Amino acid sequence: MKHLLKLLDLSTEEIIGILDMADQLKYEKKNNISHRLLEGKSIGLIFQKSSTRTRVSFETGTFQLGAQSLFLSARDLQIGRGEPIQDTARVLSRYLDGIMIRTFSQKEVEDLAKFGSVPVINGLTDFAHPCQVLADLMTIREKYALLEGLKMCYIGDGNNMANSLIVGGLKTGMKVSVATPVDYRPDPQVMAFAEKSPNFFITDDPMTAAANADIIITDTWASMGMEEDKEARIKAFAGYQVNDALMAAAKPGAMVQHCLPAYRGQEITEEIFEAHADEIFEEAENRLHAQKAVMVTLMKAYS
Ligand code: CP
Ligand code: NVA
Repeated sequence: MKHLLKLLDLSTEEIIGILDMADQLKYEKKNNISHRLLEGKSIGLIFQKSSTRTRVSFETGTFQLGAQSLFLSARDLQIGRGEPIQDTARVLSRYLDGIMIRTFSQKEVEDLAKFGSVPVINGLTDFAHPCQVLADLMTIREKYALLEGLKMCYIGDGNNMANSLIVGGLKTGMKVSVATPVDYRPDPQVMAFAEKSPNFFITDDPMTAAANADIIITDTWASMGMEEDKEARIKAFAGYQVNDALMAAAKPGAMVQHCLPAYRGQEITEEIFEAHADEIFEEAENRLHAQKAVMVTLMKAYS
């Protein structure tokens, strides 16, 4: 494994390997056991979109591993003035030991990996959010002790989170059910992968998707870059809220995950959010541990 561009590229063993290492790093962190596994290395963090969790967890995670991070706002880099990604990739590869990038186009991330010579980590594109889904899988496994056979249900927009959850869930042996309006289905590449699996089910009816689910997951109805479409989306997704009625269809005691930021009263009610806050903030914490495992896996192998 040379990069983390999307979960479609990873084998089941690679995903489980990252989760196992993340568990170990979390245990060490909680017990004040130092793990400066990337001493002396540098990682660049390129952001073309806003971030709270991704930025802070990558910066602190890098520090805990003994490495240095550079926050690089795309607005300040020459990328923002039109320097091609091919050139940026070749320049940054001569200074850095790894690059994390959050941007719009998946192609830009793939090109950074293609033209550069250091590991590239996708910190969110319009297509995928693999770091988040590794943290989600870690959190689910912490609660249920395994992933295989669990039913994971995603309700809402067929966006980057839906795309990555479907692939991550199916690759780890989960049953994945999805409810989206027909005009907001996941990416065709993900649908083509998922529809080969007997464990995948998609519908436009949230109650059917949620039936007997072990985990209910949702995300914002208007992702970054789609703000102008927000009013139309609020109408289109009106029946796709995670609320008491939806939770009643899931298994008793089912878990709730949300990558955050959450919009209470839209994709999730205040009551359900607060009732599951411990699980949701554990998920946010696990970004730190999962991403440290990704950085160690990629950047140690590179050196
Ligand atoms: N979930 C997530 O990626 O959060 P940020 O946008 O704050 O990084
Ligand atoms: N789907 C959301 C996730 C935010 C972490 C977005 O892309 O804005």
